[in-house]
This record gives sequence, C-alpha cells and structure tokens, in this order.
Amino acid sequence: MDITNIENSLLQGESADVLKQFPENIIDCTITSPPYDNLRNYKDCEWNFEKFKEIADELYRVTKKGGVVVWVVGDAVIKGSESGSSFKQALYFIELGFRLHDTMIFEKNTSSFPASRKGNRYTQIFEYMFVFSKDTKPNTATLICDKANKWAGHTNWGKNTHRNKAGDLIETKDIKPVPDFSPRNNIWTYQVNNKFNTNDKEAHKHPAIFPEKLVKDHILSWTKEGDLVLDPFAGSGTTLKVSDSLKRKFVGIERNGDYNKEIALPRLKKYIPTIELKIIEKVPEVIEEVIQEIIQNVVEEQEEEEYTEELLKKKKCPELKQICKSKKIKCYSRKRKNELIKLILNHKN
Ligand SMILES: C[S@@+](CC[C@H](N)C(=O)[O-])C[C@H]1O[C@@H](n2cnc3c(N)ncnc32)[C@H](O)[C@@H]1O
Repeated sequence: MDITNIENSLLQGESADVLKQFPENIIDCTITSPPYDNLRNYKDCEWNFEKFKEIADELYRVTKKGGVVVWVVGDAVIKGSESGSSFKQALYFIELGFRLHDTMIFEKNTSSFPASRKGNRYTQIFEYMFVFSKDTKPNTATLICDKANKWAGHTNWGKNTHRNKAGDLIETKDIKPVPDFSPRNNIWTYQVNNKFNTNDKEAHKHPAIFPEKLVKDHILSWTKEGDLVLDPFAGSGTTLKVSDSLKRKFVGIERNGDYNKEIALPRLKKYIPTIELKIIEKVPEVIEEVIQEIIQNVVEEQEEEEYTEELLKKKKCPELKQICKSKKIKCYSRKRKNELIKLILNHKN
C-alpha cells in the first residue's frame, strides 16, 4: 500500500489485516483505545488476547524507531475481580521491544458505577494510559507545563549556598527565579460527560469516545507538526479530528461500517472536507505464493516438489511470516536466499 494514499484517510477494515498492508516504520505516534475485555461488543466485534497480539505485532512493525504508542485501556471486573488484561497487554508490548515510557492515569470526573456503601470496591474512576516508545526513548517529548508554582518569581529564601568539590560552603550566584509553571504530573483528569468530550453531536452516538482534550494533550506531548498519527480503533474519529486541527497527518482504521458512515465521516467532513473513507480488503494468504518464489529463486528444478512440501509444513516460521508480510524475497541476494531457506527448513513448528 502506498503511504501517500493512506495519509489523512479513514480506512474501513479489521485493524490487523489493514496494518499488515502498511509499510514498516512509518508511524510517529499511535493514540488509541481498544475494546476493554468484552465490556462493550461494538456491534459484534470479537476481541481476545490473540486478536490483541496480532494488532500489537503490527503496531511494532509500523511504528518508527522512537515513535510512541499511547494505549488507553481498562479492565473488566468479573465476579468482583479485575481481569488484569491491561497489564497483560502492557507486558506483551514490552516483549515486542517497546519501552514502557510511562504508566499514566486518565482520571475521570465521574463514574457510571459509583461504589455503594454495602459494596466491597471503591468507585472505579480511572483508566491506564500506557505510553510506549519503540526501541529507544521518544523522538519527541514536549512536556506540558501547566502546574502553577506557588513560589513563582522567587529567587531565594535567605542566603543560597552550595558546596564546592573541596566541601567549602560558597554563595550561589545567578539563581533563576522559580518559573510560573512546571511540567504537570502524570495523572490527567478530564470531564467525561458527553458535552465536555466534544461539541460534535454525531460523536455522541458512539458508546466510548475519547475526550478531545486527552488526545490533544498526548499529541502535543509526543509529536510535532507534520508527524503521522494513527488510531487503529478509530471509533468516532476523535484522534483523526484532533490530529488534523494540530497540523499532524493522520490515519484511522475502524471495522464498523455503520460507525464510519453515520458517525466518523459526517463528523470529520465538517473539518476536513477532503477526507475519504477507503474500504480495505484482507490480502489473501500469500504464503503459498511466497514459497513458490523462494523455490523458483533458490532450488534446482528436480528438488522443487520436495522443498515445496517441506516449506509448507513450516508456516509458523517467523522468517517466513516476515517475508510473507513484506514479500521482499526478490530483493535478497542469492546467499541470503540460501540462508533463509535453511532457516525455514530448520525451524521447529
Ligand atoms: C473504545 S472504541 C474507540 C473510540 C475512539 N477512541 C473514539 O474517540 O471514538 C473502540 C473501537 O474499535 C473498534 N474495533 C474493535 N475491534 C476492531 C478491530 N479488530 N479492527 C478495527 N476496529 C475495531 C470498535 O468498533 C470501536 O469503535
């Protein structure tokens, strides 16, 4: 898929299938919220850890080195006990090679399920905002400084001193006054009632929208103008709208055609008249095709049958999966092709 074609568009399809067609290392920042366990079924969408892993693998592949993924998530409470899915997902991201840059909290001003005096759990009032960066620290981190300092403008309290290397107490010169504002803490609080989330009436038809302000704060923190922002669970299109308003490029993926037609598209068209909805079909299994290509490029004609059969048994080999995704076999040198075939044949399924 040509990257210029996906920029500033809403793609309809299963996230994993669509992401598999993206080139690697193109996304600067993902801001998203997946289904939470099976708390809502979003009109028959299947969600489990296997589905999550498929999407997480692709997020790793498409994210640039130093790119960021903001994963906003909460747990279902089943028979009084939290599922732990959020942590399980966070640990899987780390396994893939993401750094857990910060575990932030999205605190809500109100809860749909306030604690009862006779209950045994306090009111659930927050969600996690896991901030991951791929392989290394984030390429961009512009901390929002809006925590007012009580001592703003002050330069000293009595005499300021420090010790030099010899341990002598000396007077400190050039003390800068305390700034008016410092970086905020990592618990961010938002009003979550519909009228505070967004002014766009269409968006309220979606059952679980982000507050626009939450998306704005992350975009300002982890991206710069011109960066490409992804939301693989686009829903009502909040991430796309806010990205555009802050001069970032965007791409959204949403499987549900009704949400796209009735909510996201009418909402986004008001701000981005050129936005297009593109239906993305799943690419058919390419494994047989790739194996044929390996065979034709590497082995002698009389051995073809034997190798095809052996290679097809190795469908789970990661190297084979990798070239199936990128279909780069044609660009490999003969030596690399030979090494690859050995690797695949030696892989224990
Ligand atoms: C929590 S909502 C996201 C809402 C969004 N943050 C907003 O502000 O509107 C999750 C969305 O992901 C969609 N979804 C669930 N599984 C999906 C999948 N495998 N591929 C694409 N979209 C999916 C659901 O239809 C739902 O709209």
